Amino acid sequence: MPQVALGSWWVTSDEAYQATKLALQAGYRHFDSAWNYGTQSGIGQALVESGLPREELFLTTKLADMINCTDAFSDALRQIDEALRELQTDYLDAFLIHHPASNECNLATWHALEQAHRAGKVRAIGTSNFCVAQLQYLIDRADVAPAVNQIAFHIGIMPAMLPVVTFCQQNGIAVMGYSPLAIKFDESDALLRADGFTGGLGTKYGRSGAEVSLRFVVQHGAVVITQTKSRAHLQSNIGILGWRLTDDEMAALDAQTTPSGFMADNAFGSGSCIDYGVFLPADVKDTFNV
Ligand SMILES: NC(=O)c1ccc[n+]([C@@H]2O[C@H](COP(=O)([O-])OP(=O)(O)OC[C@H]3O[C@@H](n4cnc5c(N)ncnc54)[C@H](OP(=O)(O)O)[C@@H]3O)[C@@H](O)[C@H]2O)c1
Repeated sequence: MPQVALGSWWVTSDEAYQATKLALQAGYRHFDSAWNYGTQSGIGQALVESGLPREELFLTTKLADMINCTDAFSDALRQIDEALRELQTDYLDAFLIHHPASNECNLATWHALEQAHRAGKVRAIGTSNFCVAQLQYLIDRADVAPAVNQIAFHIGIMPAMLPVVTFCQQNGIAVMGYSPLAIKFDESDALLRADGFTGGLGTKYGRSGAEVSLRFVVQHGAVVITQTKSRAHLQSNIGILGWRLTDDEMAALDAQTTPSGFMADNAFGSGSCIDYGVFLPADVKDTFNV
């Protein structure tokens, strides 16, 4: 699985099309989408036009949130077929439940993902924003255990997030880290781009704050998913694999509690598992575009 992926949250499908084309030129082969983002079509079109063999690409996408659990199984199967059609492919490399609902609803949805996996439509099935107890519930009852958990992963959030990362690593669940720059909801967090929260490590290594922040994620063994429309950022972001932070530097960054990022007050920040379907009001869902 390519360790640096291009994300597509908060961009239009046309912008995702353009960014995917640029990213392919820069060497990206892993693309992250979701039903909620509305970017599957743009990404799919750019990939088809690239002419690259399908096996060289890695496509991750995610299910829309299940507010009403009654149709979870059929809704999930329908959305997988829709993702295949929009991405113009006959299989997905990873398909994830985007946000946890109740455990019962997660399991009903999971059975649909297992069926799609058995049918060869999805190679790896997984979760996103699941905490330890929610993962354990699935592991205890599923035929196919989650292969991936995609979670917020950036400097400042690790005291809350490391238990989830450790659990995943101990249970053979690959971690995909999103929002590595932590900047969507709090402009003060934009400093992650400018070496402000990296203790000057960017200056030490001749890298930007953004590069240190992304390097931090992959050095934890996680995939890093970052989003950019800039050709220069695409190139610097994929260049993070050829150097290392020291163990002491990683430990210092792990202990940091700022910037908090937008996940700070939710499931991981409060230490409890959240059922997004119950707790996330419609207007908040609109604001967050989830
Ligand atoms: N599973 C989930 O619930 C979930 C939630 C959030 C995100 N995600 C996924 O993860 C992806 C990444 O997360 P994200 O979109 O929140 O944010 P992000 O990658 O942390 O930050 C993106 C922002 O950083 C800027 N940026 C990127 N590279 C930069 C660089 N080298 N230097 C300076 N600025 C840089 C981009 O602007 P420019 O265009 O100017 O570069 C953009 O505004 C999403 O697109 C989505 O695919 C998943």
